[in-house]
Amino acid sequence: MATRIDGTALAAKVKQTVRAEAEALARRPGLAVILVGDDPASRVYVTSKRRDCEECGFYSEEYALPEETTQGELLALVRELNGREDIDGILVQLPLPWGLDEKEVLLAIDPAKDVDCFHPFNVGKLTIGEPVFQPCTPGGVMEMLRKYGIDPAGKRCVVLGRSNIVGKPMAMLLLHADGTVVMCHSKTPDLKELAASADILVSAVGKTGLVTADMVKEGAVVIDVAMNRNDAGKLCGDVCFEEASEKASYITPVPGGVGPMTRAMLMKNTLTAAKLHQDVN
Ligand code: GUN
Repeated sequence: MATRIDGTALAAKVKQTVRAEAEALARRPGLAVILVGDDPASRVYVTSKRRDCEECGFYSEEYALPEETTQGELLALVRELNGREDIDGILVQLPLPWGLDEKEVLLAIDPAKDVDCFHPFNVGKLTIGEPVFQPCTPGGVMEMLRKYGIDPAGKRCVVLGRSNIVGKPMAMLLLHADGTVVMCHSKTPDLKELAASADILVSAVGKTGLVTADMVKEGAVVIDVAMNRNDAGKLCGDVCFEEASEKASYITPVPGGVGPMTRAMLMKNTLTAAKLHQDVN
């Protein structure tokens, strides 16, 4: 029976450390969160980010812009925040409403304030092994592995999903930790067999019930990044948790696994940005 990885407890510890470090700075870290439109899920995320900032003693600003916001208005706000001394991190909640150019917006964020690690400059730095910021979700997963004494070195790591937000940076972090990484996606013909060969299996697809027990090797570490709603409207991941727990050595639940760690890593990145801006190492 697998050990359940407690993301909530771990995230609380990370935030505690972040708060202590933030208190030692001359100026408290500041985070600006921009939300365009009224997607209910995004609203929930934004509210919890504000709460995280309070917990860490950060200054935070929230911009809830209407659906009709133009590209020009959004870019103008990002540029204004780029120039603000009290704002260390800028997060534009994705996805943006139809008609707005996500790539152009992410490119407009000052890389030194890009706490999501989505700017091509930071993606490049990550790829060459010199990250300024840890991408939040994959960074949170690595922190979980570290805290539970799971070393990817020499292990076969299989990542399901190839998104820019999770799959690709996850593969990169596991590779930098000396894992042998296999990336699977919607066009992978033998996904089940590859998943079943993993010592560390990370699922970031967004498909309820995707990972069944036959896709989990005996003793594997199973990390579920997805946040889906099942037919009953209940929050769940990609992994069939009960049956996978029978075979895995460690497993993350949904909720209470990767999600809280993602948010904690955002706070850690905002602290990193504040140190960068205040020239503290
Ligand atoms: N939407 C879903 N996840 C994320 C995230 O990590 N950052 C941003 N900005 N938007 C998201």
